[in-house]
Amino acid sequence: MALQIYISGKYYDKENAKISVYDHGLLYGDGVFEGMRSYSGKVFRLEEHLDRLWDSAKAIWLQIPISKQEMGTVVNKTLEINGIRDGYIRLIVTRGAGSLGLDPNRTSDPQVICITDHIALYPPEFYEKGLEIITASTIRNHSAALSPRIKSLNYLNNIMAKIEGLQAGCVEALMLNAKGEVAECTGDNIFLVKKGKLMTPSLDSGILDGITRGAVLDIAREAGIEVAEMALTKHDVYIADEVFLTGSAAEIIPVVKVDSRPIGDGTVGPITLKLTKRFHQITRE
Ligand SMILES: Cc1ncc(COP(=O)(O)O)c(C=O)c1O
Repeated sequence: MALQIYISGKYYDKENAKISVYDHGLLYGDGVFEGMRSYSGKVFRLEEHLDRLWDSAKAIWLQIPISKQEMGTVVNKTLEINGIRDGYIRLIVTRGAGSLGLDPNRTSDPQVICITDHIALYPPEFYEKGLEIITASTIRNHSAALSPRIKSLNYLNNIMAKIEGLQAGCVEALMLNAKGEVAECTGDNIFLVKKGKLMTPSLDSGILDGITRGAVLDIAREAGIEVAEMALTKHDVYIADEVFLTGSAAEIIPVVKVDSRPIGDGTVGPITLKLTKRFHQITRE
């Protein structure tokens, strides 16, 4: 059976799952989304993802046409229909079809789309040996222009930095904020370890409030690891003992080289391994 995609109340075969070319989600990137994972049939931190989706929608004056509870049911039912227990979920809410102008008041019917599929963002050896990344010259969106906490359909800011990374032979790239502080990577949050202390940019560094970031902070605190959410510079990254990235799709992935500089001794560090082990336990148990 073809993969079934949910669009606003109905299921369609993957090749027939289509929305209007007048949808402002396509015309302007006007909409919001979530990326989640399910493990053994259970969506990891589903409520947190739905809360963030609603917060993103509120920030852009988008009224989601169904309730949070109904959305949760849509996600679980779409997984079930497709027989996916361990997979990735992409939930999208577009502004809906409208006229060829920016005015969101001239649109109707926001579309709710739920795609469930399998994902392998990076090959296994990247998880074993760690990634090499570069710092992109493209800075993360200024919070006063468009808050990076909004998970909107407009990802051009991140895509420009991703292209820089790919052109340098790296699958991820570090983005700084307008102050030159470390923000996040193009699709992942960043963590550093220095002398046993775990550090990650605070929300006011202009980042997405990552759900995996939150889970890693919880795990670290439970394990008695000292944790700080703070402003960090590229210098802090270069002199870190360990660096890793977090995201729903990537999970936890080590970084062993940044801007050609080896991080620590250039291998995956013990705190990264410890946190990853625990993350696998809580998601896969
Ligand atoms: C820009 C950005 N930062 C961080 C993340 C990680 O967030 P989460 O752990 O909620 O997936 C993502 C994930 O899509 C992202 O796009």
